[in-house]
Amino acid sequence: MNLGIECSRCGQPSENVLDFRCSSCGQPLEVRLQPNFDTKKILAKKWNVGRYVKSFPYMEDFEEVTLGEGWTPLVRVNDNVYFKLESLNPTGSFKDRGSVALISAVRRQVQKAGGYLSEDSSGNAGASVAAYAARAGLKAKVYVPETVSGPKFSQIQFYGAEVVKVPGSRQKVAEEAQKPEPKKFYVGHILHPLFTDGIRSLAYEIAEQFEWKTPEKIYLPVSAGTLLLGVINGFKHLLASNVIESMPKIVACQTEQVSPLYHRFKKLIYKPPEKVTSVADALVSVNPPLLDIMVKRLEEIAGDAVIVKEEEILEAFHELAKKGFFVEPSSAVAYAAYKKSLSSEEAHAKERTVIVLTGTGLKSMLKPTG
Ligand SMILES: Cc1ncc(COP(=O)(O)O)c(C=O)c1O
Ligand SMILES: [Zn+2]
Repeated sequence: MNLGIECSRCGQPSENVLDFRCSSCGQPLEVRLQPNFDTKKILAKKWNVGRYVKSFPYMEDFEEVTLGEGWTPLVRVNDNVYFKLESLNPTGSFKDRGSVALISAVRRQVQKAGGYLSEDSSGNAGASVAAYAARAGLKAKVYVPETVSGPKFSQIQFYGAEVVKVPGSRQKVAEEAQKPEPKKFYVGHILHPLFTDGIRSLAYEIAEQFEWKTPEKIYLPVSAGTLLLGVINGFKHLLASNVIESMPKIVACQTEQVSPLYHRFKKLIYKPPEKVTSVADALVSVNPPLLDIMVKRLEEIAGDAVIVKEEEILEAFHELAKKGFFVEPSSAVAYAAYKKSLSSEEAHAKERTVIVLTGTGLKSMLKPTG
């Protein structure tokens, strides 16, 4: 079967859904899509990511490992601004779109080998992979930094994943998770092409919820880039398939502290802080492995990038909560960036705009004051 998975640099095809690096040049893999999205092939009675399964060729042959992810509400908050409530996914974040694709695809092979899944993340992705592993009846080991704590870490443990604490840097945690061991299958969400690919479903949903008329702008928070790349790929696919008439302008939103994409995109030099202390604690990739691909894709679609300050993030977080939308500070980054663009007139209140609210506030470490 041609899976459509290829090397992002040399184009060499990959035949195995478990691959996460090109076997020839070592670069990340990507899913290449044929311009064949067909609205008639949508499974209209399915209200989850499986609705678009015909556009995920590697999933079609596999049983879906679903927890009911996707088809999240798109809520109009004023004339032209809509919030996409990804915080309402089964584990509380958009990551479930990646997990359903990836774990549905690899489940059979891992089960047959009597193997287990290995992931590195102490945050939303770790929780999501742990939940989908549980749903698939697979064992998961989640590698985390030694210092980790908090609601997301508890969530990972409640799903029954085995936790391996690794001393040292975040890079060290990733290396440990990837280290080959008998029966271990690495499904790290940043490098695994099928995780990012599952996030395409978010673009399909936004387009379908707008009856295939794309909004002018989409604001989303960016760290490792799986959300950004998944959404770009989804809209590009719809455009190439003549389902939509234009690309939305996609705006990558980052914190001042963690802004490697913003800086590269604006051709500025980025110096990460010695220690990241941002309240947006899910946005921590100071040196994301997918940076080159992100810059290339964002340029190709004439997207944009915005950074916001800590005060702006907190203000946006509180403002969202006071409107009834309780999300993570990391999600509030996208709303803060939208507000900033409005005040600098880079955005117009008349443009139809979607702000992706990526994760639930119930996982936040913040405490109310006063
Ligand atoms: C709540 C939340 N928003 C946004 C992001 C950024 O996503 P990505 O790392 O795919 O850029 C993350 C990643 O962990 C997240 O947990
Ligand atoms: Zn290659």
